[in-house]
Amino acid sequence: MGITKMDHVAIAVEDIEDSAARWVASLGMQAGGIEELPERGVRLCKLRAPGSPALELISPLGDDSPVARFLAKNGEGIHHFCFEVDDIELALEELKSGEADLIHESPVAGAGGSRVAFVHPQSFNGVLIELKQKE
Ligand code: CO
Repeated sequence: MGITKMDHVAIAVEDIEDSAARWVASLGMQAGGIEELPERGVRLCKLRAPGSPALELISPLGDDSPVARFLAKNGEGIHHFCFEVDDIELALEELKSGEADLIHESPVAGAGGSRVAFVHPQSFNGVLIELKQKE
């Protein structure tokens, strides 16, 4: 599989500006800018603390956003875990042959120009998993 690290944990939120400000003010985390991924229907903001995987706040962009559907069903909370891998195509091939249920059979655009793919939560104990190509 070639996992190189846990990259981030994503949290679905209703108001990303308000939420980012709260994490920064209350926990002293460092926030990056807000990024929009229109093709994925998501706005996101990375939060960093020393020695830890990042947190990624995500909120809906547009009416047909998967994040909007997640919030309507579950409310705010943990959305996915992301692992960095050294070869995302190989990782997807291995998962497919292991009968994991892939949401993306090939990589799509992720934050900061990265290449990512998601694996359905039913394959991993109800947890949505994102794989990210190591840069
Ligand atoms: Co993510």
